[in-house]
Amino acid sequence: MSTSVELHVTRGARFEFWARRKPAESEAEYADEEVFALRTGERIVYRIAALPPYFQFYTYTHHADGPLTLEWDENVIEITLFYRYDPADVAEEGVTFLELKGDRLVARPKEAWPAWYQSDPDRPQLRFSPFQAWMNDPNGLCFIDGRYHLFYQFHPTEAEWGPMHWGHAVSDDLYRWTHLPVFLHPEQNLWSLGATGGAFSGSAFIGPDGRLSFYYTERLPAYDLFKDYKEVQKHVLPSADLLRPEVNSLVLVDGPPGSAHDFRDPKVWYDSNSGAFRMVLGAAIDGDPAVLLYGSKDGADWKFLAVLYRAPEHFRRHGARCVECPDFFELDGRFVLVMGFVGFTEPETGRHNLLYAQLGSFEDDRFTPLTPALQELDFGTDFYAMQSFRAKERQIAFAWLFNWEFRKPAGSPYSGELSLPRVLGLDGELRLTMLPEEGYRTLRSRVLTQASPGHFVCEPGQPLEVSLVGALDGIRIVGRGGEGESFTIAHRAERLQVSVAEDTGEIEYHSTPLTLENLRLFFDRGVLEIFANDGAVCGTRRTYKITTLTALELIPSAATRIDACEAWSYHSVWRD
Ligand code: FRU
Repeated sequence: MSTSVELHVTRGARFEFWARRKPAESEAEYADEEVFALRTGERIVYRIAALPPYFQFYTYTHHADGPLTLEWDENVIEITLFYRYDPADVAEEGVTFLELKGDRLVARPKEAWPAWYQSDPDRPQLRFSPFQAWMNDPNGLCFIDGRYHLFYQFHPTEAEWGPMHWGHAVSDDLYRWTHLPVFLHPEQNLWSLGATGGAFSGSAFIGPDGRLSFYYTERLPAYDLFKDYKEVQKHVLPSADLLRPEVNSLVLVDGPPGSAHDFRDPKVWYDSNSGAFRMVLGAAIDGDPAVLLYGSKDGADWKFLAVLYRAPEHFRRHGARCVECPDFFELDGRFVLVMGFVGFTEPETGRHNLLYAQLGSFEDDRFTPLTPALQELDFGTDFYAMQSFRAKERQIAFAWLFNWEFRKPAGSPYSGELSLPRVLGLDGELRLTMLPEEGYRTLRSRVLTQASPGHFVCEPGQPLEVSLVGALDGIRIVGRGGEGESFTIAHRAERLQVSVAEDTGEIEYHSTPLTLENLRLFFDRGVLEIFANDGAVCGTRRTYKITTLTALELIPSAATRIDACEAWSYHSVWRD
């Protein structure tokens, strides 16, 4: 039994989708021509002859004029992600998401995205999240021809991690995003192999000739999540419209002695001192998390140069398996190394998923830290896989708001979100600072009203910001929703602490000691990002329990003195 709809498409329109035979129907008989077909009049221009029980990627480009008829058998085909676009205007219009719903085809062009995003009470409104399915790390961040490009780790067929692709979106301002077609696919169909792996994290590289390319890791078909896999590095030259890889070459296969299966997440730059290319990679050396340094004269032939950083034994002892997503860049005359140690649990607090930074100098391919101590980048731990890039003379970073501790309630059409864009800097004590890129101000809608001093009335579902300056030691800030406390931030025992409704107390989320001079917080349907002391201390938490605030309360201690206070309600970045 097939259903058909008429589509109005232009010449050159392209369809992409991921489909399989519905599990319950795997053994059922069906007529091939009815599973999925596209016709112009009587002529079949595209047909799936046999649908496998595992997901597969399908694509069709319409090179004819005239209307197109889509036919499908809803009892047999399961399509997860499905979209169409016109390459000529996709950079502005984005893709149109499609959904086969019974005997209807629901189209969601860009105009329909605000309703889609706002209808989910747990979906952040100031931040990027995928239209549907799973995302993790930001990848390939760059600023090209006046626009920001975001690529991201993406699993198109469900809201869980799986065979990795690169999703793609573009923005004029780092806040409002337009969804573009998937950019990178795994080398081969991993669903058919029952394997994981695929196009893992990587970054953009703008060469001395101004040409954009990407370096990334391919994890080859893997049958174990934690060992015995192979990771190789690849180089991609994108098509002129940046919609697809034009050339994709394997550039690095084997790690140095002492390294093992973890060998990933390249970040490449051009080192003008040596007149050559440099790459950092996350790995482990004899079991210690490490950052490897590679060099190349042409960007294609890479040689191992040195271990740029090796983590002290403490990290391995407490579970760290390797470095992930190393970032290495120059900032105000210093070099900054940022990295995550996957598997590490801090014994004192129970926190995991921490990111660290270290400042130093980089000469003759040696990184010399200013001090051996690592700076904890975000005490809330829902800020991982940070990647930064240079644009308009600023170093801008995004990270993935997730720490594997809690997740969106089952049934959510998507998982994973990005932080606010953060501008990186160094303070007087040579700490890396992170502050939200100032475009957020244009999204403010109105000042929050106060029921009584320090008691703000929130607009349910709208993002909010509260900013305080003063002698803030001892302050407590409580966000409340209908069902109770969503979060509490407290300055106690010299540290900033944060808890959310899910917490049992087993893990302690607190900062290093500080005298609290200013604090800016953003709450957005369950995402809490805190920037204290001009961004020297940041804390990010994602709660899925109480995501709608009705009230926010400032509770000063006897020692607290608030000199200035601003509180704003925000528009959604996904509004029309
Ligand atoms: C970090 C990470 C990277 C890897 C990617 C795979 O979250 O594990 O090391 O490239 O995610 O999705």
